[in-house]
Amino acid sequence: MTSLLGPDTRCSRSRIRVRRFAGSARHVAQLDSPIRVAHLTDLHVGRITPRSVQERAVELTNEARPDLVAITGDFVCHSQSYLDFLEYIVSGFSAPVVAVLGNHDHWAGADEVRRSLARAGAEVLENSSTVITLNGCRLQVLGLGDSYTGYADIKRTLQGIRTDLPSLGLSHIAEEADHFWRGGVPLVLSGHTHGGQVTLASLHEIAMGKVGGHRYIHGLYGRRSFNGGFDGAVYVGAGIGASVMPLRMGERGAREVALFDLGIDPATIPEHHDEQKALPGRPPSSRKRAKRMLRVYRQQAFRMRTASLRGYASSRNWSI
Ligand SMILES: [Fe+2]
Repeated sequence: MTSLLGPDTRCSRSRIRVRRFAGSARHVAQLDSPIRVAHLTDLHVGRITPRSVQERAVELTNEARPDLVAITGDFVCHSQSYLDFLEYIVSGFSAPVVAVLGNHDHWAGADEVRRSLARAGAEVLENSSTVITLNGCRLQVLGLGDSYTGYADIKRTLQGIRTDLPSLGLSHIAEEADHFWRGGVPLVLSGHTHGGQVTLASLHEIAMGKVGGHRYIHGLYGRRSFNGGFDGAVYVGAGIGASVMPLRMGERGAREVALFDLGIDPATIPEHHDEQKALPGRPPSSRKRAKRMLRVYRQQAFRMRTASLRGYASSRNWSI
């Protein structure tokens, strides 16, 4: 195994890559000392992703000695059956944890996921921001609600933003990054795509780009230089887990922990890859957006019906 601080580290047991990047030029200007942020996404605790993989992700993250851990949603798969394990995993990080929720968290039960994360000591940001002091420097972290399921409110998220402070945006869906950039946030961390999972023969670009309409699929996009305008960058993490298909093939589809050294000039460290150009993308239609929101309410209604049936059955000593 190469050095953890190298640009690309493979862990043979769980096949998690650790990749390192610098922050934006604005972070260099605003930070007196560097802040290391470990970015993980799409843990998807549950049957599909082995527990050993989740535990190894925590180990690798802690070995990198980050000042902050940022997790960009999809903590669960389809149920609340693994929330105790989620709490155990998230409480295992040695650095403070900030997070946003993803579409799977809303489908499975956002309140319950939120409570589990709170018990684990994580701060969940939903269209809100927080200022954390790390290494003697203040970092403003802004977290957008999940736009896939209709919970994003960028106006509320950016309300009261301190442009004099170094800032970092979190959004499950990377396509929201442009809004952050216009609001003065130079770097956004995201997830959702799992890097396409199968990246051989550019299959991920066909599946996630042409079919799925994503502008950003995996890795670093945009610009970290600062020319006084709306320049910005977004990183899409490949994630740790999966919710449907466990298969991951190809270099860019491997599970990963990404380290961002804010306050370090990108030109001074080896990085896994350069800033990439966004794909054309295709925003979802309003019908599609409505269908996605409806799914959350359907799932909620299903859970309530099941809970009330269980209550009725137990009041009569029936087993179901
Ligand atoms: Fe996901």
